[in-house]
Amino acid sequence: MSFLKEIERRRTFGIISHPDAGKTTLTEKLLLFGGAIQEAGAVKNNKIKKGATSDFMEIERQRGISVATSVLAFIYKDKKINILDTPGHKDFAEDTFRTLTAVDSVIVVIDVAKGVEEQTEKLVEVCRMRNIPIIVFINKLDREGKDAFDLLDEVEQKLGLTVTPLSFPIGMGYDFKGIYNIWDKTLNLFSGDKKQVVSEGVEFDDIDNPELDTMIGEKAANQLREELELAIEVYPDFDLEAYRSGHQQPVFFGSALNNFGVKELLDCFIEIAPSPQPKKAEERLVDSKEKELTGFVFKIHANMDPKHRDRLAFVKIVSGTFKRNAPYLHVRHNKKLKFSSPNAFFAEKKEIVEESFPGDIVGLHDTGHFKIGDTLTEGEVLHFKGVPSFSPEHFRYVNNADPMKSKQLTKGLDQLMDEGVAQLFTLEMNGRKVIGTVGALQYEVIQYRLEHEYGAKCTYENLNVHKACWVEPTDPKNDEFADFKRVKQRYLAKDKQGQLVFLADSAFTMQMTQSKYPSVKLHFTSEY
Ligand code: G4P
Repeated sequence: MSFLKEIERRRTFGIISHPDAGKTTLTEKLLLFGGAIQEAGAVKNNKIKKGATSDFMEIERQRGISVATSVLAFIYKDKKINILDTPGHKDFAEDTFRTLTAVDSVIVVIDVAKGVEEQTEKLVEVCRMRNIPIIVFINKLDREGKDAFDLLDEVEQKLGLTVTPLSFPIGMGYDFKGIYNIWDKTLNLFSGDKKQVVSEGVEFDDIDNPELDTMIGEKAANQLREELELAIEVYPDFDLEAYRSGHQQPVFFGSALNNFGVKELLDCFIEIAPSPQPKKAEERLVDSKEKELTGFVFKIHANMDPKHRDRLAFVKIVSGTFKRNAPYLHVRHNKKLKFSSPNAFFAEKKEIVEESFPGDIVGLHDTGHFKIGDTLTEGEVLHFKGVPSFSPEHFRYVNNADPMKSKQLTKGLDQLMDEGVAQLFTLEMNGRKVIGTVGALQYEVIQYRLEHEYGAKCTYENLNVHKACWVEPTDPKNDEFADFKRVKQRYLAKDKQGQLVFLADSAFTMQMTQSKYPSVKLHFTSEY
């Protein structure tokens, strides 16, 4: 197969949702279509169980599962589909943000009864900022939920999207009769049988046909006709370009658990979802069709065996062909590296591959060379953009609890931060280290892993910080910046990249500081 054909057939995407909306169930059903797994239940749920906050075995178990399900790949109708797993738990939201830098599109799952939830809002906002194409799947239609039009409204308003339904439900919950697929003009009838094998839609291009009344009953048929008429009037026609540029979002309805409406979603997805897209580097825009290899690390996973501290770095291939044993430039280290056993992912297995193409993810064994955001090329100096750090929500001093093991502590912290578990800030004034995280759970993960993988012990001490702001002196030579540094000395720190960060103790302080020093810009992400 030609290189261009390989690119064209790839679809690399993420499924995002608020926990419990049905992401795992949908993923599993998608895999069934690829024949990648034989039965339901094969994709382990990678949710952190409620109340498992201090259950370290649970955390370890999760790490095992999440390696296995980091990338799920399968072939469907000759398309190579790569699903990148995104943790639903909010404490790991930053992981999800980073994974979103490696997808070419996303599917958002929404629970028909709960509607748009908090975590969905945050994740969609990140997608919108980057104009990532989005398809919305409204799930659990076999249950009583919100009215379809109300939901579409809610999606538009809360998520700031411009929707166009490509399928439409006929009733819901107890009265759920099926789905009319606007996209391919077919009708699927719902049997309500949990073991239902995938129902093939019957072609039905004229809903005025009286046969519809026989199939779903006169009342439901008339209601569907009215609702479809309204939907066509209210919502714009599907526009491929608008979808791909992130300006229009098609919506599907279904029930993942019953594998209902999933095939229709997948069939449409492989047609409309983009193949690997060009990616911005600081230096230039890199097109996927370029012959030379480029790629970047978006995730690092520590090995499950604590005795061997090797890790798996997940590289998204942006352009060119990745070849086993070929020398590639590690741009940050300015060093050529060869990889003798790159892993590719297939369903829930990983295996060594000879070649990978744009859109694919390769897992590289790493003994500490990589950190998130690192770029690989054939020699060109490139830095891919878009793997920023966001301000953490929690901040604590980290103290060494075993003076004999300070080296181990430093190394452990260093490597865990490279993995992106949390962010480390070093105070300018006294060199004390502060760990910033998205959720409280990470502190326990860090403490546990430091002890079990590095033999180091740490304790924490609370620190009152509202937000970390990355400092950009727009005019570094003026007195204002010098004044800012002198007055705010106690609150200034360096992040791991050596960028200056202001640890503001309240929203008010942030506001006051910004108005007092207008030439010193404060940013909420490290990439501004
Ligand atoms: P998540 O990954 O987004 O967190 O959600 P997950 O797929 O684990 O689904 C959450 C719950 O919703 C699961 O039930 C799942 O069976 C159920 N579910 C998913 N899709 C549908 C659907 O179309 N209809 C209905 N009625 N339920 C659905 P659970 O009881 O929490 O877990 P389990 O014991 O079934 O695994």
